[in-house]
Amino acid sequence: MIVRRKYIIAAAVLLPVVGLLVGWSGLIGVRASTGHWAVTDWFLHWVMRNSVRTAALSHEAPPLDHPALLPPAAGHYEIGCAMCHGSPARPRSETVKQMLPEPPDLVPVISSWTDEQLFEIVQHGVRFTGMPAWPTQKRPDEVWSIVAFLRHLPSMEAERYRELSGLYPPPMEGEVDNLPLSCESCHAERRLNAESLVPSLAGQSETYLVESLRAYADGRRASGIMQLAVSSLPEEAFGDLARYYAGQERSVRNPADVDAGLVEQGRILAQQGRAADKIPACLSCHEKPDGNPAYPRLSGLSRPYLTRQLQLFVDGVRGGTKYSHLMNEVAKNLEPEDVAAAAAYFSQRSE
Ligand code: HEC
Ligand code: HEC
Ligand code: HEC
Repeated sequence: MIVRRKYIIAAAVLLPVVGLLVGWSGLIGVRASTGHWAVTDWFLHWVMRNSVRTAALSHEAPPLDHPALLPPAAGHYEIGCAMCHGSPARPRSETVKQMLPEPPDLVPVISSWTDEQLFEIVQHGVRFTGMPAWPTQKRPDEVWSIVAFLRHLPSMEAERYRELSGLYPPPMEGEVDNLPLSCESCHAERRLNAESLVPSLAGQSETYLVESLRAYADGRRASGIMQLAVSSLPEEAFGDLARYYAGQERSVRNPADVDAGLVEQGRILAQQGRAADKIPACLSCHEKPDGNPAYPRLSGLSRPYLTRQLQLFVDGVRGGTKYSHLMNEVAKNLEPEDVAAAAAYFSQRSE
């Protein structure tokens, strides 16, 4: 009995030492070129699928059928995913196919995952594989829009993908075509409608635009989509871009179903606020000709965009410029009905 125990202790001490020696000897291959053994490959995928399946139990997909979810998601896919996974407009590159594990062509695999599982993979990434996490953990709404896009991917034609992502938009008359293509791909005024989740930048305050770009670049305003879009821009470009957009005319977009009662409620909130709930009049800061130029112009922004931003303020995750705390103070007292009313009012207001 005593002898047995001796062997066990010796083994417990020796095994890690042997393990270290084997690691030190350089005999364990790390070459990507030889690939994994089939059994290792099977095991790693099995572990990954189990892990994703379990973690996904804590997520619940919101409705994902709104068409406005697709354009910003497709644009982000083009900038942030297509180089590894390919897209309907371009196959995966040969270089990427030499990665271990190889980033898969997503077309045949999407249907093997539920929406919640896709969310888990895109939000958190996959360790040791090159599959990155979403740039911020504060914007599940953005990740869900990627899931909505991934559902359409398997049946998407190249033409439709180009249109959604804004790849190679044909330059229009009077448009500066030496701008980074990427901003216009999502923000071009002609690509937006009353339902867009991408904000119109046309006619927005120049100071607000520059400060917002800085806020994305420093991570003070959380958005995986915008953080990636500005990551390759030198800060010197911010001023030019802001001037370009500030100088444009914002189009009038008439939302399809305007609820007159809701708009009226929004007008009262905007002009008078609600003293009982410590809500100041929105127009005491916004849209004032002699107001602080860092305060954004709201009139004519789309209702879904306004709603989403207000909700982010209400949830305390919006961030932004050095004045954003003022808006957080306001939003803290807003009820869901106020958010809906204010968004309805400002979306159809033309000053
Ligand atoms: C640097 C390369 C790289 C980038 C960029 C990348 N991925 Fe991946 N992705 C991978 C790799 C590698 C895997 C395989 C992980 C594995 O084998 O477990 C993967 C796996 C996946 C999977 C699971 C596929 C399956 O069935 O195994 C999905 C879905 C996915 N990625 C979506 C995305 C999306 C959406 C983006 C952009 C937001 C993205 N990926 C960006 C490399 C990348
Ligand atoms: C893939 C689509 C996409 C691309 C490319 C993109 N944007 Fe955006 N942009 C968005 C979305 C979506 C938002 C809303 C983000 C949020 O929720 O904060 C946004 C927000 C903004 C805002 C804040 C506007 C506001 O009213 O608060 C500015 C400024 C901006 N983008 C400028 C740019 C510039 C300049 C570029 C080019 C360098 C660019 N964007 C590229 C999709 C994009
Ligand atoms: C005390 C001044 C102040 C008041 C009052 C105020 N806001 Fe704001 N609001 C701001 C500031 C400052 C910002 C810019 C935040 C940032 O730094 O990005 C902002 C941003 C916003 C945005 C985001 C715009 C965009 O393009 O992303 C919306 C929407 C908004 N406010 C709606 C409202 C509504 C609705 C009310 C009234 C209920 C209101 N605000 C009252 C100061 C104010």
